[in-house]
Amino acid sequence: MEYMGNKEYWDERFKQRNDKPLSPEGVLIDNINCFKKGSVLDIACGDGRNALFFLENGFKITGVDFSLNALERLKRFAEKSNHSIETRQIDLSKPSGLKDIGIFDNIVINHYRLSEENLVDIESHISDDGILFISGFGYKHKVDERIRKQDLIQPMDIEMLKKSFQLIKYIEDDSKRGFLVTYILKKKSSEFKTT
Ligand SMILES: C[S@@+](CC[C@H](N)C(=O)[O-])C[C@H]1O[C@@H](n2cnc3c(N)ncnc32)[C@H](O)[C@@H]1O
Repeated sequence: MEYMGNKEYWDERFKQRNDKPLSPEGVLIDNINCFKKGSVLDIACGDGRNALFFLENGFKITGVDFSLNALERLKRFAEKSNHSIETRQIDLSKPSGLKDIGIFDNIVINHYRLSEENLVDIESHISDDGILFISGFGYKHKVDERIRKQDLIQPMDIEMLKKSFQLIKYIEDDSKRGFLVTYILKKKSSEFKTT
């Protein structure tokens, strides 16, 4: 129950962290050129290691998470480097959690598995030719009491998206950290969508 869904666990975990953001995700740094210039919605952003990286690279960021401690840290880090950032406290386990969030040029979901209900609706929050970046523990990762089977990104998650998105890059990394997958998808222009 710890890895996703337990707000007290995450609030406490962010409270325990020192006053420095962690390094951004390596695979995101390596693929920064794939993103469309403009805005980024960082879903389950935590205290913002990736959001801060996007800010430094000229993107406009909105971060959502259910942990206020995480969002406050992110705002503090952004202010320290003279950036402004939009944050929203949202419980993503709610099917309509992202309903009023708006439309972005890019959406990043790093180390969080979005529910099926929210995932099928993600296309309505991304502009044409916008980028959806999904990365985290994949279907072959060894599960334990912290990371459960339902937390693992499954190929069928991506299959569901193919009507509205084109897969432009798939990266697998089977290393000490575990079995990690990254999918970079581009939203099809409305005229090219398949039914
Ligand atoms: C493994 S961390 C990843 C944080 C960030 N994306 C990163 O890559 O550093 C998982 C994040 O999901 C958030 N989270 C877990 N369950 C959530 C939920 N139901 N609604 C919103 N955020 C949630 C946690 O607060 C935490 O920030």
